[in-house]
Amino acid sequence: MVKNIINISCLIALLTCATACRKSPERWHIGVSQCSEDIWRDKLNSELRMGAYAHEGVELLFASADDSDERQLQQIDSLVNAGIDLLIVAPNQMATISPAIDRAYDRGVPVIVYERKTNSRKFTAYMGADNHLMGREMGEFVATRLKGQGRVLEVTGLKGSSPAIERHEGFVEAISHHPGITLVASLQGDWTEASGYDAVKQFDGDLSSIDFVFGQNDRMAVGARRALQEIGCDALFCGIDGLPGTDGGIACVRDSILEASYIYPTHGDEVLELALSILGGEAYSKETPLRGALVTRQNANVLLLQAEEMERQTAQVDRLHDMASSYFARLNQQRWLTVLACCVIGLLLIAIALFYLYHRGQVNIRRERVLNNLWNLERLAEDTETATDAPAAEGAAQADEETPAADINSEVSEAEEPVEAEPSPFILRFREVVERNMGNSELSVEDLASEMNLSRVQLYRKVKAITGSSPVELLRTARLNRGHQLLLTTDKTVSEVAYAVGFSAPAYFTKCFKDEFGFVPGEVRK
Ligand code: FRU
Repeated sequence: MVKNIINISCLIALLTCATACRKSPERWHIGVSQCSEDIWRDKLNSELRMGAYAHEGVELLFASADDSDERQLQQIDSLVNAGIDLLIVAPNQMATISPAIDRAYDRGVPVIVYERKTNSRKFTAYMGADNHLMGREMGEFVATRLKGQGRVLEVTGLKGSSPAIERHEGFVEAISHHPGITLVASLQGDWTEASGYDAVKQFDGDLSSIDFVFGQNDRMAVGARRALQEIGCDALFCGIDGLPGTDGGIACVRDSILEASYIYPTHGDEVLELALSILGGEAYSKETPLRGALVTRQNANVLLLQAEEMERQTAQVDRLHDMASSYFARLNQQRWLTVLACCVIGLLLIAIALFYLYHRGQVNIRRERVLNNLWNLERLAEDTETATDAPAAEGAAQADEETPAADINSEVSEAEEPVEAEPSPFILRFREVVERNMGNSELSVEDLASEMNLSRVQLYRKVKAITGSSPVELLRTARLNRGHQLLLTTDKTVSEVAYAVGFSAPAYFTKCFKDEFGFVPGEVRK
């Protein structure tokens, strides 16, 4: 029984430890420093988040500089000081942000420069599309659309940012092959729609003769269009980014606001994969080019349909992620409840085991006391001689109640030290009568009393006073001791022994035996 309880307790302890100490996956803190805040960056950020959903233990820390160099420098330093494991950065301008990127790199933080470039070589990997190629393809498109003849205006992105420089170079290179195309001016924008509008408004050249405006992104192209329409100029427009959605470049092309756009890929999930490869010590490429594509009136519809489908699925993934998150939160809660429940059950089992051991100890003490009393009767007999003269009571049960147990016990416990003494003639006779008759399963206290020439109550009082136990208890102890002896010294079966010592049912003998000795009769021979 105790062994079982200990086994169960160990099992619960193991389960509790296993549940509580489940190894949590590695946690990566990835800082994302964005130069701006707009719909293109929103798409990128949500793809990064999606990428993180697929990996347990990734935490993204976003910071947006809102087109300010100073803010981006500070934000990168703060992210590094916060202890990020890797930095993804889109530098506002090439030169200005490099010092903070260098500082991060020098402190051992891996750096992914994404989409815009830095003029330092201190970075771990670069990922982005070919802006020069984009500018060239837009130049080709404009020249073709104008059939090689026309006056063109360019609105560039933020000065000093790598896409602005490279898109301009590509555009100029392409139209240089078309002598009929004149680049009237490259106006300075800063990637915002307002800057496209303002750049055109502030231009002091002849706007009425402009045939085409190339905005280095769709937002600036839309701003420039608004400004030219205000003066009644119906030039054509194109931009770059080709975003899906109602405000995006693809819808602008479909709705004839723009003649063309160019998909400037975001691929946030791919950037995150690259980050995790670097963090996980896996192989990765130092430079990963991303592919874009021209958006025209011919493919705008199909692209929009595909984008809508993608958006639908993204929303679905988002929902699944939310569901999974709340499920795991509940699971975690339940885990701790399980640990608590296991602890309570474990403590209860330990308490039961202790109680059981204590109880068994008490039984043994009592048994020993009874046996001791049987052998140390002489002294007790003298001490308690007076008790035998007490008037007889009506019944044994009543006598049981009348005898103050505490008094007897205290006398017995005083007698716990074994005392060498000769048993009194009374006790010797009582023992002789018990031993002679114990084989008789019908034997009653009355029988014993009459053999001793006493009334039942007299016998009870005298025996109880001397030994602290009742005649019935002593009779049972004597039977069980004899049974134990027979099991050790004879070949009798348990049933035969049970009958031999006056038990009418072997099963009851087995039960009493177990209560008395703590093990079943069968175990004596083992
Ligand atoms: C978004 C954006 C895009 C542009 C790109 C250039 O912040 O302005 O519109 O194509 O950055 O880096």
